[in-house]
Amino acid sequence: MADSSGAEGVAARYNPLDPGYSSEIYDVFAQAHREAPVFFSPLYNVWLITKYDDIWTVLKDPKRFSSSMSTNVAAKDPDEVIAIFKEGWGQVSTLVTCDPPAHNRYRGLINKAFTPRRVNEREEFIRSTASRLVDAFVDEGEADLIWNFAYPLPMTIIADILGVGDDDLDRFKKWSDDLVARLSFDLPKERLIECARSLVDFQKYFDGLLTEREANPRDDMLSDLVRARIEGAEPLNRGEMLSMIQQMLVAGNETTTGLIGNMVSLLLEKRERWEALCADNSLAAGVVEEALRMETPVQGLFRVTTEAVEFDGVKIPEGAQLQLLYAAGNRDEAEFENARQFDMKRGNAAAHLAFGGGAHFCLGASLARLEARIALETLTDRLPDLRFAIDQAPHRVAHFFMRGFEKLPVEWGSAK
Ligand code: HEM
Repeated sequence: MADSSGAEGVAARYNPLDPGYSSEIYDVFAQAHREAPVFFSPLYNVWLITKYDDIWTVLKDPKRFSSSMSTNVAAKDPDEVIAIFKEGWGQVSTLVTCDPPAHNRYRGLINKAFTPRRVNEREEFIRSTASRLVDAFVDEGEADLIWNFAYPLPMTIIADILGVGDDDLDRFKKWSDDLVARLSFDLPKERLIECARSLVDFQKYFDGLLTEREANPRDDMLSDLVRARIEGAEPLNRGEMLSMIQQMLVAGNETTTGLIGNMVSLLLEKRERWEALCADNSLAAGVVEEALRMETPVQGLFRVTTEAVEFDGVKIPEGAQLQLLYAAGNRDEAEFENARQFDMKRGNAAAHLAFGGGAHFCLGASLARLEARIALETLTDRLPDLRFAIDQAPHRVAHFFMRGFEKLPVEWGSAK
């Protein structure tokens, strides 16, 4: 029988695609921290980095740890999938899968649209959208919080930022789901084909809009992209624009949906947490940070070593794929005292790694934080009696590195 301790023991337990894994995940991280903070998973051919400080070492050093495959866990695409990609613009590398100096150009062209000041200008729109969503189901007495609230809120906001209105939200949802699904392991060929088809449909749809914006620019991000210029740098080509839009659609939705579901679940788990927030809404910003730490929506992304490296005596060869387990770093006792405890007033909660760090620090962090805070303020204000539905169980998303709910049934007796 295999030894259940040490690096091999931890590796044997590390399987995000095992349905039982989600309930033991934090025990696996704790064992890793005690026995093997850096370990190799033969199942996924990836090195796992679990300690807060080690993750930062990687994040600060893009020369030795490249992002070229930062989201790419999938095996080689089958020929049918490659043929579908050829109908579109292929997989162009920008932002998250790009290293400096190329990365600086992309980031420079888009950063200003997501500064805290620009994001805060959207506060009223986010608030009215959240309220409108609650209006639509408040009389029902029950709802799936994901489908009715946590998914349409960020989707409506990113659609507005891009400048596409909300007529096509369900199409965006399908594309976003398929583009995220592609980033997991072990998809059957039929599903890979469906996802490739979605990517090409998405590209054609936005190509049409970008062409339209070239002729008639508006005050929106699609127009910003077609006009974007940095002195001395090439303007973006169409493939690059589409890749950046794709990242905003994917990175901005499923993640924020995950955060909203995770927050509400953490709060409802213990009634006193929910009631404390209902009594004092000023706790909301801290709750957002603590929820990001405790139930990290993007559990970890990837890097490739450009030379042989060593962590505390563990040697990793050049060309190896690493997964930075942000979720494990967020449970590291060396950084967060009583890391397993949900503490709404934790002083250093915002030091979490849920948005990554360094050059690739999440572009949408300010937006996600604002949306999540408004989501909490709206729900506690309108549905103070919110609780888990008695007769329906929540369902988690099945994915290699996303953590959130696919379904979160809730109910309430009285509402405002
Ligand atoms: C709770 C919500 C969110 C979470 C947990 C999250 C998480 C992350 C993480 C961990 C990274 C780092 C990638 C890496 O390590 O390589 C990242 C990057 C990124 N995020 Fe987010 N994100 C969220 C919301 C958003 C939103 C709302 C947007 C919309 C604009 C967005 C856009 C991006 C982009 C474009 C990058 C790549 C940045 C770069 O490589 O320079 N994210 N995000």
